[in-house]
Amino acid sequence: MYAPPLPIHRIHHVELVVGNAKQAAFYYRHALGFDQHAYAGPETGRRDRASYYLTQGNARLILTTPLVPEHPFSEHLKVHGDGVWDIAFAVKDVDKCYQMAVERGANSVESPKILEDANGRYRYAAIHTYGDTIHSFVENLDYSGCFMPDFEPHHIPGLGTGLYFFDHLVGNVEDRKMNYWVDFYKKIFGFKRFVSFDDKDITTEFSSLRSVVVANENEMIKMPINEPADGKGKSQIQEYIECYVGPGVQHVAMTTDDVIDTVSRMKAQGMEFLSVPDVYYEDLWDRIGRIDEDIDELRKLGILVDRDENGYLLQLFTKPVEDRPTLFYEVIQRKGCQGFGKGNFKALFEAIEREQKLRGNLYD
Ligand code: FE2
Repeated sequence: MYAPPLPIHRIHHVELVVGNAKQAAFYYRHALGFDQHAYAGPETGRRDRASYYLTQGNARLILTTPLVPEHPFSEHLKVHGDGVWDIAFAVKDVDKCYQMAVERGANSVESPKILEDANGRYRYAAIHTYGDTIHSFVENLDYSGCFMPDFEPHHIPGLGTGLYFFDHLVGNVEDRKMNYWVDFYKKIFGFKRFVSFDDKDITTEFSSLRSVVVANENEMIKMPINEPADGKGKSQIQEYIECYVGPGVQHVAMTTDDVIDTVSRMKAQGMEFLSVPDVYYEDLWDRIGRIDEDIDELRKLGILVDRDENGYLLQLFTKPVEDRPTLFYEVIQRKGCQGFGKGNFKALFEAIEREQKLRGNLYD
């Protein structure tokens, strides 16, 4: 049933298009704790856009802003506001990945080309996925510079929070489009269906959604795809699609080995998180069993816990990081559990709905 997998083993970086990359870089350094390493812009010979490259552990981000109205990112910003543009895959053979993807029906953004500066070369190509989001394929041929061609070192340490990897990246697509995009990842990339949740798993009094998680062969890349489902109120997925004006990346989950420390730091540094009512913690031990963490500490920080047969996980969602209720982040610590917090969906989505109601977007 699966197409042979494309040789894709990990995410290289995630690139966001933002309205003001200089200020966004400050926010990602201070609130999320990323270190800044490199910059590309007019000073490095790139006249039409400015980019900042930041990392924390193996999580690599590029924040890019257009500098001229003619650049396609200016239109991207006008339509979508800030958001994820590219989930870039590190591959060993860009030409082969691109050729296989296009032969299987992917739409091309850019055919293979060489990116080059005095420090060496990268090979690059890209294809479309949902909405205006793309997947680029990148391959370091002989590059010895600080990141990729055009970038020059520009080090500013961040206020580290212990986040270190992209656990999963979630796409929101339109009603009845989830299976289309699940099939896209199976057909184009040879990804497998990892797990799925129907509208009975993810429902509150007012709204619901359906979700299927696709994953690559080594399960280093996990991408849930959500679609809205009918309810008394408007699904948070529908709110996203209206506010982002189309499908796009809803949240990026990042791992930590100490969720209490990470969330404490992020809160102290100004990051806003969703809050869950105290009642969530009243019967937590009965529901979850013994855990290493102090429940009062979890309650104080609003961290949620879920368990499967292999262990448990701790997780929490930030509020959206833009004025539009679109992209947000998840902090996740896995202690054996490979799930996505199914037992927390109701509490998390009720928390989202409280915010949705404040925005006047819960009812049609
Ligand atoms: Fe998630």
